[in-house]
Amino acid sequence: MKVENSTARVGLPASRDLKITGEKTVLRSKKMSDARADYRWQSDPDLAALDATHPLRLSFAVYLLDYSVELRSPGFRRFPLAVDTLEGTHIGNCTLYDVDEKKKEAQLGILIGDRDYWGKGYGTDAVTTMVRFVFTTTTLRRIYLKSLDWNLRAHKAFEKAGFLPTGFMQRAEYHFKTMEMTRDRWEHLAGGNGDRPL
Ligand SMILES: CC(C)(COP(=O)(O)OP(=O)(O)OC[C@H]1O[C@@H](n2cnc3c(N)ncnc32)[C@H](O)[C@@H]1OP(=O)(O)O)[C@@H](O)C(=O)NCCC(=O)NCCS
Repeated sequence: MKVENSTARVGLPASRDLKITGEKTVLRSKKMSDARADYRWQSDPDLAALDATHPLRLSFAVYLLDYSVELRSPGFRRFPLAVDTLEGTHIGNCTLYDVDEKKKEAQLGILIGDRDYWGKGYGTDAVTTMVRFVFTTTTLRRIYLKSLDWNLRAHKAFEKAGFLPTGFMQRAEYHFKTMEMTRDRWEHLAGGNGDRPL
């Protein structure tokens, strides 16, 4: 019996060659050749600190084994995409997780791993493109996120993508700012024409 997971039930496609084009970035399905860059970014202590996590401490060989399993089956509530430049350089990842088919909401995570691309609008465009994709192709009604309260670059990027602050939360020693984009707000910003909000 085929078990449909919650990402499929809200309308997120299972396609292995998805490609969503924004103004500066392309969001696409993950592939094995992304593993080297993902390993480098996840092993970077500074990037881990910006994401309130710890750097990876395993060999690339072990990482690669998990990676291929994850690619075949990304988990019932996760929808991971790579972020490329329009020219095809892989610069990061943008993922929906905790996809909740009952509440019709999902959490968004973004990492522009390549520092050369920080502060140049790529993060804002990737988030804007993911939000547009979600609200034009799925039944989700709310996208929310959290970022460390001192990560001003992240706050600014999310604000520029149209997210509104919803408060603060604490997890262990970390303090986060929380933000959201609702379908109603997105439609209002987009002027009801399904276009980009900003
Ligand atoms: C957070 C992140 C996704 C933002 O993407 P980005 O491409 O760097 O951001 P953008 O260029 O789209 O927007 C950043 C904005 O913040 C501004 N900014 C940068 N540093 C800032 C600071 N210290 N204080 C205030 N604003 C700042 C930039 O000037 C820019 O605004 P502008 O376009 O009005 O000039 C990306 O930097 C990233 O992944 N960083 C590393 C990991 C990380 O922080 N992860 C946590 C995500 S929750």
